Amino acid sequence: MTKSRITVLATGGTIAGIAGSALRHDYRPGQIDIAQYLSTVEGLGLEAEFTGHQIANIGSEDIGPKVWGPLHSAISLAIADPACDGVIVTHGTDTLEETAFLLDLTLPTDKPVVLVGAMRPADAVGYDGLRNFANAARVAGDGDAAGRGVLVVMGDRVFAARDVRKVRTRSTDAFRGYPRGSIGLVTPSALDWFGAPWRRGEAARFVYSDQLPPVVILYAHAGMDPDLARRIVGKDQRGVVIAGVGEGNLPNAVRNILIERRRDGVAVVRASRVDEGLVDREPEDDANGFIAARALNPQKARILLQLLLAEGVVDPAAMQTTFDGR
Ligand code: SIN
Repeated sequence: MTKSRITVLATGGTIAGIAGSALRHDYRPGQIDIAQYLSTVEGLGLEAEFTGHQIANIGSEDIGPKVWGPLHSAISLAIADPACDGVIVTHGTDTLEETAFLLDLTLPTDKPVVLVGAMRPADAVGYDGLRNFANAARVAGDGDAAGRGVLVVMGDRVFAARDVRKVRTRSTDAFRGYPRGSIGLVTPSALDWFGAPWRRGEAARFVYSDQLPPVVILYAHAGMDPDLARRIVGKDQRGVVIAGVGEGNLPNAVRNILIERRRDGVAVVRASRVDEGLVDREPEDDANGFIAARALNPQKARILLQLLLAEGVVDPAAMQTTFDGR
């Protein structure tokens, strides 16, 4: 059997974390470097050859444009290299869904790109990182993984970047897909896809930009002080995503402030703080010039809005069409 050639780009997180004791709950993410990590992986005897590069070694709460730029460039180089069959990105799980979605929107789909993390540090009892990594290697080396966009492998499941979200703070079964659940099941020795690839040979949907415009997320709640909206959504913001109550609803006084901001040119997207469910367009969105996030949660809606703004798209109807298509 020919071994697949996989480029591994490491960014840190719990998968590279150390507690210092097998029983300790607290730990430091991003402690093991990629050379050390791959020497442990070597012992697993996987049907793959790995080339590792360290992009960062940090907790994913600190990941943002400063890491996304070098990461995007390194993935682009790897997938353009005929000697690379697929890419694995190791990443903290806390913001993994945001990085995955950004890459999904800005990379072509002709080679597998798989993000993977762990919920337990490397020296914990029941470390899940090696199994997740072995599963990710199986997916990244599978020809059928290309054409499904950027993928996330966690807890023996494969998720599409658009759907994946972290839903548990501790369990190793921490990720779920919405609206599609997992699109495949994987173990180190088996891989089953649910359905055929749907994006074969597709170019990147957006040009990656290092200059993502400022967009804030405003979290709605009972008893919300409308002045909060005025303070958070300043005139320096290009957009705001509201993590609305229920189906993207917001208090009247807050809505009125956002209508004012919209008139100043700030893009307004209504998403929901509820874990699952669609936020559909309502008749008053037309009058207000608001956009409905559909199935995207607030953090993913923010990424899509930033990319649209970076490409100079400002018309709410054109933005809505893009949100509808995601
Ligand atoms: C992080 O996101 O870097 C810490 C948590 C994790 O990786 O599970």
